[in-house]
Amino acid sequence: MNEIDKSKLPVHVAIIMDGNGRWAKKRGFPRVQGHQKGTETVREVVKASREIGIKWLTLYAFSEENWKRSDLEISALMNLLEKFLRQELKEMTEKGIRLRAIGRLHKLPASTRELLLKTIDETSGGTQMTLTLALSYGGRQEILDALRKVGTMVEKGLLRAEEIEKRHLTASLYEPEMPDPDLLIRTSGEYRISNFLLWEIAYTELYITPTLWPDFSKEEYLKAIAEFQRRERRFGAAE
Ligand code: IPE
Ligand code: IPE
Ligand code: MG
Repeated sequence: MNEIDKSKLPVHVAIIMDGNGRWAKKRGFPRVQGHQKGTETVREVVKASREIGIKWLTLYAFSEENWKRSDLEISALMNLLEKFLRQELKEMTEKGIRLRAIGRLHKLPASTRELLLKTIDETSGGTQMTLTLALSYGGRQEILDALRKVGTMVEKGLLRAEEIEKRHLTASLYEPEMPDPDLLIRTSGEYRISNFLLWEIAYTELYITPTLWPDFSKEEYLKAIAEFQRRERRFGAAE
């Protein structure tokens, strides 16, 4: 914690929480047990983020492509999400954490979606940190959904095609208020983005660790932030 410069914190940290299945497999457990253990890491990382002073934390919890998994695994993930929402509501409201969600939420099972929307509503007054869960989320799908909104404006004659600017697309994303991530962490050592926040990560710093998500710790989180603080961000400009 002493290594962290509080004046140079990333405003927005996004995390691809990967490796639950491999964590379970290594121990001869069913995949679901890896997800269960992964939920504990989620709790720790949310708590640590608030303590460090991160203002925006976005977690990739379920991708649009994850619907390809077995019904058993999907329903276990939805149950874990519901359990997480129920258990964390009190903590979130007490600690000023505002919950948000991005993705094609209409595809979630009704019970999960209703609880999610209720939790978003009940935590909407939080001012310390915004926790965004990416659920049934795909970066390409988000860009497509945004394009449709911009297209509707064009159809209605509110905007001409040649007048379309970056800001029109940004304003049509799932959470237009969300700043672009400064730091993107991916656990489990895969060097890929897997359709996460494609529009938003144009100039995000990447931190990839071989640690599997259930083994990720506050210590390693601090290490990632310390490394971020040593990077020189240029955004294409010369020194
Ligand atoms: C990440 O862990 C959690 C989700 C994608 C929901 P995985 O389930 O992808 O774990 P691995 O990649 O198979 O180890
Ligand atoms: C990315 O992990 C999605 C989440 C962490 C929710 P995946 O395990 O689904 O991605 P791939 O298949 O390794 O690219
Ligand atoms: Mg994976």
